[in-house]
Amino acid sequence: MSQTTKIESVLKEQRVFYPPQAGRDEAYIATMHEYREIYRYSLEDPDGFWSERAKELVSWFRLWDRTCHWDFEKPEIRFFEGGKLNACYNCLDRHLTGETKNKAAIIWQGEPDEDVRVYTYQMLHREVCRFANVLKKLGIKKGDRVAIYLPMIPELPVVMLACARIGAIHSVVFGGFSSESLKTRIQDCEARLLITADGCWRAGRKIELKKNADEALKDCPTVEKCIVVKRLGLDINWEPERDIWYHEAIWAEDIKDWCECEEMDAEDILFILYTSGSTGKPKGVFHTTGGYLVYTAHTLQWVFDLKAEDIFWCTADIGWITGHSYIVYGPLTLGATEIMYESVPTYPHPGRFWELCERYAVTLFYTAPTVIRALMREGDEWPHKYDLSSLRILGTVGEPINPEAWLWYYTHVGQGRCPIVDTWWQTETGGFLISPIPYAMPLKPGSATLALPGVEPVILKDDGTPAGVNEGGHLCMARAWPGMLRGVWGDPERFKQIYFSRFKGYYYTGDGARQDEDGYFWIMGRLDDVINVSGHRLGTMELESALVAHPAVAEAAVIGVPHEVKGETIYAFVILKEGYEPSDELRKELVKHVRTVIGPIATPEYLQFVSGLPKTRSGKIMRRILRKIATGQYEDLGDTSTLADPAVVDELIKGRKELL
Ligand code: PRX
Repeated sequence: MSQTTKIESVLKEQRVFYPPQAGRDEAYIATMHEYREIYRYSLEDPDGFWSERAKELVSWFRLWDRTCHWDFEKPEIRFFEGGKLNACYNCLDRHLTGETKNKAAIIWQGEPDEDVRVYTYQMLHREVCRFANVLKKLGIKKGDRVAIYLPMIPELPVVMLACARIGAIHSVVFGGFSSESLKTRIQDCEARLLITADGCWRAGRKIELKKNADEALKDCPTVEKCIVVKRLGLDINWEPERDIWYHEAIWAEDIKDWCECEEMDAEDILFILYTSGSTGKPKGVFHTTGGYLVYTAHTLQWVFDLKAEDIFWCTADIGWITGHSYIVYGPLTLGATEIMYESVPTYPHPGRFWELCERYAVTLFYTAPTVIRALMREGDEWPHKYDLSSLRILGTVGEPINPEAWLWYYTHVGQGRCPIVDTWWQTETGGFLISPIPYAMPLKPGSATLALPGVEPVILKDDGTPAGVNEGGHLCMARAWPGMLRGVWGDPERFKQIYFSRFKGYYYTGDGARQDEDGYFWIMGRLDDVINVSGHRLGTMELESALVAHPAVAEAAVIGVPHEVKGETIYAFVILKEGYEPSDELRKELVKHVRTVIGPIATPEYLQFVSGLPKTRSGKIMRRILRKIATGQYEDLGDTSTLADPAVVDELIKGRKELL
């Protein structure tokens, strides 16, 4: 589907789906009236609203002195200042007194069907305490950074929680990233320790993680030790001075089952997570303890209407913010039971997700539009093969969902019974900002609906004035919420410049949106130089730097083009250096090179060799023109007279026709 037809189908979408009656009486928020009342109160009295939620959802060692404080000009954001708590205590210890103690916290399903592990809260607590003691034994203390490069195995939440327990700051790097990406992230946060695994399963293939870790660590002098989880039993390289087996360390005789929780200030950093932006280097977004924990629990409880008896399954990888907030901190703070799955949706067959929903009687299911589109292509018969009657609420995240995919999800997975919560948020926001409340709000396929309580979105035009009804503009936030980022690691200037300088007094999201006559938000995607491939953010500059790092490349320009399953895919224009000739081999080599530098998610789908790029006389690449050419809209290039060399356009069109 082209970008135009996609937007048209969203613009034409007018169907409305009303909340189900079943479950409504027990819902946290059951009517539109109730939602509006809470929303009004949350904006009128943010101190009252957030302090009630914070007391209800989180256990504090000491209550705070000041509830909300923000100044976007500085910028400075603080919530629950003076409050003391520990995130790990909230996720585990406090559940050990009542019924939750022996309840399953995590039901882990490995890729091989027989690999299943269940951790009750008690069991998880013991393993986390023991690992926290391992960290202490290695001399890791409050404020130290620990890099984590692990697949979707239970040890991943265990080590994150162990860090939180002793006050160390974790920085998880997605297991699909390359050694180069891992290296730059470790270097940026100056981690003292790396935790990885020998390898992991990926659709029947064995991926060698430790090999990447070894490669990265060649250039990471701050890392003293590397702890390795044995997942596959691969034959790996071993540095006896540096490497330690996880199982040997954690089950050592001198390691105790109990470890004290560090008392953390609400504004102490909990973790750093790197995300792509419009500059070449990923930025280390950091979140703090109190606000983040309150916010993830608060949003999960209301948006998924999460109750003690629910089985929640978020299919994201913990290497992304979705996994941090809605696999680790949110569900465990609420004492929920959740599914954690090691593998991909289509292996060993396209019914795998539905099979697991049936097997574990999942009630709340949360995934991404790209997954829905991929599974939709496999045919309606797959969800119909399984008993999906346990499902109650479905969710999506990561990119706008096209109405076709929404309807398929609603009809064939939810059987017309389950509301879909289309949650709009970002790494920076910590949790959902715009999302349906499932038993209260009528749904419109493709719209993330309305702002959650405490959140005040506005759509601003280029000149900073508010956009009118159905008028597109920049999505911004007029006030802070507890889960918002507190900074960019090591770069306060960048923090200010990226998020608070475009419109004074507002948080800038980088997304385009419009609001319809009912006030519903329709997200139109990124307005900056960020591509969203399968719900993953990639900066065009990051991809261009990777290409230019290859000896054959003189210059590169990268754009995103619409893709039926991935949402967007990567299209690269490359100018070769003198002495290099375009060829299919070189194209393959460059594609492989980008994968090696960033990781498989960054694989360019199209790579066109060109002798020039459309630039303004001041040398700025006109991406608008590249986008039109890449999507075949040759007649609609707009004004090309400002180009330094207008002839370049014909060559680009010719090359594009030859490529496809
Ligand atoms: O463009 C928006 C898109 O994903 C971006 C945030 O990406 P990231 O920080 O990687 O976090 C993804 C998971 C929260 C946003 O700026 N996005 C996320 N959710 C939606 C969305 N676009 C439309 N609808 C959504 N529900």
